[in-house]
Amino acid sequence: MKSIIVTGAGSGLGKELSISFAQKGYHLILAGRTEKSLTKTKTEIEQNDGKASSLELDIRNPEDVKEKLLILNKDFDLYGLINNAGVGFFGPFLESSDQELEDTFSTNVLGTLHMTKAILPYLLKTNEGLVMNIISTAGLRGKKNEAIYCASKFAVRGFTESLQAEYDQTGVKIIAAYMGGMDTPFWNGSSHIADPSKFRSAREVAGIVMSELHKDTIIIESPKT
Ligand SMILES: NC(=O)c1ccc[n+]([C@@H]2O[C@H](COP(=O)([O-])OP(=O)(O)OC[C@H]3O[C@@H](n4cnc5c(N)ncnc54)[C@H](OP(=O)(O)O)[C@@H]3O)[C@@H](O)[C@H]2O)c1
Repeated sequence: MKSIIVTGAGSGLGKELSISFAQKGYHLILAGRTEKSLTKTKTEIEQNDGKASSLELDIRNPEDVKEKLLILNKDFDLYGLINNAGVGFFGPFLESSDQELEDTFSTNVLGTLHMTKAILPYLLKTNEGLVMNIISTAGLRGKKNEAIYCASKFAVRGFTESLQAEYDQTGVKIIAAYMGGMDTPFWNGSSHIADPSKFRSAREVAGIVMSELHKDTIIIESPKT
């Protein structure tokens, strides 16, 4: 059974994509830092006759990422990686803290690069597979009070487009997915968005992503309100 790793699989889009890929017959490796939320996703997948395992992992730790991928490669037929885990801090750039800058780049950018670097050799060996990077429309254009977040997502865009060129002649498909706002726990504790419930649900966005997997670039703009 082919396995797909999803980072940030315990909530929001990562959870919904995990459920959707499990329905397609893949074994899901649900990665994240919070065991309890990963277990909830795993239970939901299993209740629908899908297969999943939990993986406690902080993608900011390259040594742990490498070690865990080594073990996963022994235990499973690794086929894909969805780089979905991400954080965001919003507000005027000059009011941001160094810690927020550090956390955003170490998670959104370095975490994505560590994970991809760790899995790619295994995918290239079998010459098949999928790496999908969940970016954001913040990776397509700059936005007020989103300077650090946009900078991180532009970095992931550059990374993804470069990999697409580099691995074009292989069987490993690299997808860049850009979406507008979603109603997820991402906005908990933030006043940047007045009413996130106006956004698409993560389930709806996951549904659109799944129907566009044949594309290299998926763009899901927010509907005009
Ligand atoms: N919500 C939006 O409006 C929106 C719009 C466009 C794009 N996006 C992007 O979509 C992706 C998913 O976000 P979401 O909206 O579904 O938010 P979410 O529910 O907050 O999901 C983010 C997930 O990332 C995990 N995570 C964070 N840091 C991690 C780390 N160091 N190691 C491993 N896992 C980590 C979190 O789990 P733990 O904290 O348990 O580790 C959480 O499950 C993100 O990349 C986000 O930037 C979001």
